Amino acid sequence: MTIPVIIDCDPGHDDVFALWLAAGHPSLDLLAVTTVGGNVPLEHTTRNARIALSVAGVTDVPVAAGAAGPLVRPLQTAEWIHGENGLGGPELPEPTVPLDARTATELIADTLMGSVEPVAVIATGPITNVAILLRDRPDLAGRIREIVWMGGSTDRGNATPYAEFNALVDPEALDLVLRSGVRFTMVGLNVTHLALVTPAVRRQVAAVGNATAAFGDELFEFFCRTNDEVFGMPDGPLHDPVAVAVLADPGCVGLRRTRLDVELLGVETAGATSVDLDGMLGREPNAWVAVELDVERFWAGVAASVARLA
Ligand code: RIB
Ligand code: CA
Repeated sequence: MTIPVIIDCDPGHDDVFALWLAAGHPSLDLLAVTTVGGNVPLEHTTRNARIALSVAGVTDVPVAAGAAGPLVRPLQTAEWIHGENGLGGPELPEPTVPLDARTATELIADTLMGSVEPVAVIATGPITNVAILLRDRPDLAGRIREIVWMGGSTDRGNATPYAEFNALVDPEALDLVLRSGVRFTMVGLNVTHLALVTPAVRRQVAAVGNATAAFGDELFEFFCRTNDEVFGMPDGPLHDPVAVAVLADPGCVGLRRTRLDVELLGVETAGATSVDLDGMLGREPNAWVAVELDVERFWAGVAASVARLA
């Protein structure tokens, strides 16, 4: 029995691998893709999502553009990691996958209403689109199986000392989603920093030998270089596909039930995710948080999924 999923993303190098893992994995049924402003502005993230699916030969999944920026804050982007167009490195082909005329909210709503089974929503960027859907269509919350989000961290950030990028860009959206009551899983930097694109991983993916793998290796080249320049991490952490792995291969990611809150008011700490793993605050647990990753199993799943693509 496959799990129906929607991916909401801001491609971004790692978002591309999240799309490929979802599209290629036999346990998942990718029903729709929506995009948000994040790593780069919306026009680029949307074009990049279409390119990622086009390269992989995934032509039957609708792609719709969503929010250009956060609910209330100005957009912050991350060209220093992903390049000006968001997919620095390879020559980008013209996408063959069309842009759906609907907004992200309309496509998500139609997808939820059109599915017999509740649909899992995997968000790998600022969670603005999901927040807008839950704000404007609370009647559809019951049709969402769960939300799995790459973002946040149980310890330090990567965009400010205490905030991870996706959480920093739109903390109000994260707060709204946390208050919705929909089952929520956070896949933070504490785990995604284990998903390192080492030389051995690059060889493993390149050995798949298809066009998708070749394009992916050019993405790896750029992504590892910029992560080395910015963070001193020559083996770039491939954050977003770890969120997909939570559903594709549950045994691959260890989760803990805990209390999760997000800082909205802090001058220096806005976007920080407060993960009360020791129950110090005595608040009701409201989320699952990723705390472990079976790294070898994860990369085997990524390579196997890429092998099922063009
Ligand atoms: O902090 C890492 C996250 O921010 C990833 O989703 C990356 O693609 C960027 O969106
Ligand atoms: Ca992302």
